Amino acid sequence: MKNILNKLHNDHINFSKLLAFLEKQYHLLEDCERLELSSVLDAIKYMKEYPDYVHHPLENAVFKYYLDHYEGAHEKITELLHEHEEMPLLTIKLIDMLQGALADVPQSRAELCTYLDEYISIQKEHMNEEEVHVYPILSSKLDENDWKKIDHELADVEDPLFGEKVEKSYQGLIQQIVG
Ligand SMILES: [Fe+2]
Ligand SMILES: [Fe+2]
Repeated sequence: MKNILNKLHNDHINFSKLLAFLEKQYHLLEDCERLELSSVLDAIKYMKEYPDYVHHPLENAVFKYYLDHYEGAHEKITELLHEHEEMPLLTIKLIDMLQGALADVPQSRAELCTYLDEYISIQKEHMNEEEVHVYPILSSKLDENDWKKIDHELADVEDPLFGEKVEKSYQGLIQQIVG
């Protein structure tokens, strides 16, 4: 019954692919001039739609259950919960910056690139912390019964980009990530 943890881990693998795509976009450029803004915008919209609003709330349910029932790593987990609250704000800010750049609103493209670079680092670091310091603890401490209780409260939401059915608005993006 560790399906939930497997699903979360699998999400991380998918997010890593997306972040690798974003990094590639970012590093392809020496001066940000040729950044492919529309694909980057699609990728960041996905971050808002799935990681921010589905993956993190799912983690919140698991993390909070753990905090209520087990000792150990509380500080680290509380920090990650706090990051979950902040992340949608970072994503929305990046979407705004990208939409502005796409609409040719006068603004510093360098500023956008710096922020994108920061955003990618924050996401990678967050995932690493979870994979290295938290998921192994959850895996070893939570038992079958715990997972059942957690599962009971959760709704199943399909990933619109990496799930079985790719949503129309992400069909161009998925081709670029896997292609
Ligand atoms: Fe997380
Ligand atoms: Fe995560």
